[in-house]
Amino acid sequence: MTSKPTRARAAVILAAGRGERMRSPTPKVLHLIAGRAMLDHAIDAARDAGCERIVVVVGDHSPAVRARVVARLGEASVALQDPPLGTGHAVLAAKGALAGFVGNVLVTYADGPLLTAASVAPLFDLRAAGADIAVLGFESGDPGGYGRLILGAGGALTRIVEAKDANTEERAITACNSGVLLADAGLLFGLLARVGAANAKGEYYLTDVVGLAVGDGRSVRVALADEDEVAGVNSQVELAAAERAFQTRRRAELMVAGVTMSAPETVYLAWDTRIAAGVTIEPHVVFGPGVTVEAGAVIRAFCHLEGATVREGALIGPYARLRPGADIGPAAHIGNFVEVKKVKVGAGAKANHLSYLGDGTVGAGANIGAGAIFCNYDGFDKFQTHVGARAFIGSNSALVAPVTVGAGAYTGSGSVITADVSPDALAIGRGPQVEKAGWAAAFRARKLAAKGKS
Ligand code: UD1
Ligand code: MG
Repeated sequence: MTSKPTRARAAVILAAGRGERMRSPTPKVLHLIAGRAMLDHAIDAARDAGCERIVVVVGDHSPAVRARVVARLGEASVALQDPPLGTGHAVLAAKGALAGFVGNVLVTYADGPLLTAASVAPLFDLRAAGADIAVLGFESGDPGGYGRLILGAGGALTRIVEAKDANTEERAITACNSGVLLADAGLLFGLLARVGAANAKGEYYLTDVVGLAVGDGRSVRVALADEDEVAGVNSQVELAAAERAFQTRRRAELMVAGVTMSAPETVYLAWDTRIAAGVTIEPHVVFGPGVTVEAGAVIRAFCHLEGATVREGALIGPYARLRPGADIGPAAHIGNFVEVKKVKVGAGAKANHLSYLGDGTVGAGANIGAGAIFCNYDGFDKFQTHVGARAFIGSNSALVAPVTVGAGAYTGSGSVITADVSPDALAIGRGPQVEKAGWAAAFRARKLAAKGKS
């Protein structure tokens, strides 16, 4: 928000539907888009739109949805609708939670994860320009089950007819209702009290407030959004479609902001992925939540990152896995088949091949040889491994935590390091090599003789 809204703003987010078409034990609105629950996306959009009070209407059938709302917004932000008798009935269920509120109420759906504050901004503009109710609509090439917008002179909305109640002529209309609307709180709840359920579904329709308002001589206006922004999710197929739309949008935003991606359609972003201008992302990279990548870093092909920070100029992959708490320092290299978890890697340090670095630190300029492993877990507890600055960990070393390798020290290849290593020392923890001269030739001769060959 750039300027403070002149009228107070509240949001009512509908989340009481059963979401049966998802055919999932997880409540619909807790399904994820870009690693974040649809419910949280809806709350984010309302927050970003400047709504200081947010009420989520939940059903009795999904305690997990209620719990998520309480955890994020507090008990006062929950309104129970039981049983669910339609969208109008659902909004009315929020009346108590908004008692005493004076101002604009924005109604949105928790199953519309692509809606943003920018999508609803035109509704606030219409209200400021004198509309009593502002409805967010969209043009659809396939209007199917959506409510149709019946527009009058000058683009004023006269009523909304639900697909099931529409006649053939009305069903041919391509201007659809997104379900999102904005109205003055007092007006909205007053109109809802008059809505009946004499319709095809026997439900109390939120959309009926439009016809009632127009009948009272009030003005109802429409702002048009892109179909993508207001798409609702009712099934797993629609969830995947919403994910695709979200990804397409975020990739484009990042590229506009200066991120290079040669195959953006293969890069999967989380809702909160932060990538600075000047970063290059190669094909087939997956970002889980909580990743920050700083300028000049290169994420090579086939990497998986979550909860990680990649600092300026670092080189990651190909085929690297950064898990939560991985903090890769400036110009450090994490190469193929290297997994890093809860390790701070210093500037310019390198772990280029086939390693597991878990729980600890790697000092600046250290080199972790191929196949080195931080043995951090004994089946019960996790322990720390610290590798000092410029230390050189020989290939296939097993560093058995808790253990510290001092700055500038070496470990011999194949060592099992179970005790701390002093700075600048060499530690070797492996059996000394034994040589038996001529053994192999004698062995071969004996075997061949036994089989009657020469
Ligand atoms: C609704 C609109 C329709 C619009 C479409 C856009 C009405 C009557 N119709 O239809 O004009 O084109 O959305 O997607 O409003 N919900 C509750 N409690 C209820 C019923 C629904 O909380 O009793 C919630 C649902 O969880 C969902 C939202 O409200 O998030 C919309 O309900 P849904 O049944 O999907 O409405 P549609 O028939 O799609
Ligand atoms: Mg729907």
